[in-house]
Amino acid sequence: MAVSSTEHSAGLRELLAFYAEAGVDEALLDEPADRFAESAEAKNRQAGAARPMDPARREETSGKAGEVRAPRKSFLPDSQPVAAPRPQAAAVPDGAQAALARELARSAASLEELRQIMLDFEGCNLKATAKNLVFADGNPEADLMLVGEAPGRDEDLEGLPFVGRSGQLLDRILAAIGRDRKSVYIANVIPWRPPGNRDPSPMETEICRPFIERQIELAAPKVLMTLGNPSTKALLRTQEGITKMRGKWREHVTDGDVRTPTMPTLHPAYLLRTPAHKRLAWRDFLEVRARLAALS
Ligand code: URA
Repeated sequence: MAVSSTEHSAGLRELLAFYAEAGVDEALLDEPADRFAESAEAKNRQAGAARPMDPARREETSGKAGEVRAPRKSFLPDSQPVAAPRPQAAAVPDGAQAALARELARSAASLEELRQIMLDFEGCNLKATAKNLVFADGNPEADLMLVGEAPGRDEDLEGLPFVGRSGQLLDRILAAIGRDRKSVYIANVIPWRPPGNRDPSPMETEICRPFIERQIELAAPKVLMTLGNPSTKALLRTQEGITKMRGKWREHVTDGDVRTPTMPTLHPAYLLRTPAHKRLAWRDFLEVRARLAALS
């Protein structure tokens, strides 16, 4: 029996709804893509003239730092045919990319320049699967900067850090110390969502680290808070776990020797899972409020 095109699209819609319900939130390819084979091309591009940006991506990523971009549409179509995503070259994460990231990050004279450099950077494989660069939210002039680990699905869709459930908890914690997103500056160590929210690899973190380090230097907050284990380990260069690190003042030192008093605290996503520990985070935020009051 012939299947009409209406039945066909209804079937496709049902299938996509089934995938979405099952938690499949990434549209990848039918066939496996050999990203390593594509890396030579990616490296050449990086070394040579900048590749003109894909117009669709340019549209997504243009705009001023901190500007709220319109959320991307859901991948569930209304009546559009489902198009296979275009394969993108992904750089092999290696030391050369990390060195390039360090050089590029150092060259940024302003946060806007840094954001532009990151938009153009092709040296991190995470960019190939991310929908948006998640650069920052809040006020870059704020005296308090918070740094999380990496964007999740909601952050990737909106291009802003901490907009999902853990972000809502973070907003409530901030409100409790009299702050909101206009009086803090928020970023992540990793600015591109790792696919499926997997942990970023040590090399991916090494590649992204110079960008957040420069972002901290340029924003120059009076106090920094690292949210959770990975951010604390990456920025304070420690192997010590967050349970030991939290609640005590540390010093963040950038490559350019900018030193910032830093309070590591528990990640809001952890607090959602372990609400009994909210009192510990509460103490850390009160400590930060007191330090900032003393500094002003
Ligand atoms: N978790 C993070 O570490 N960062 C975000 O932006 C969102 C969730």
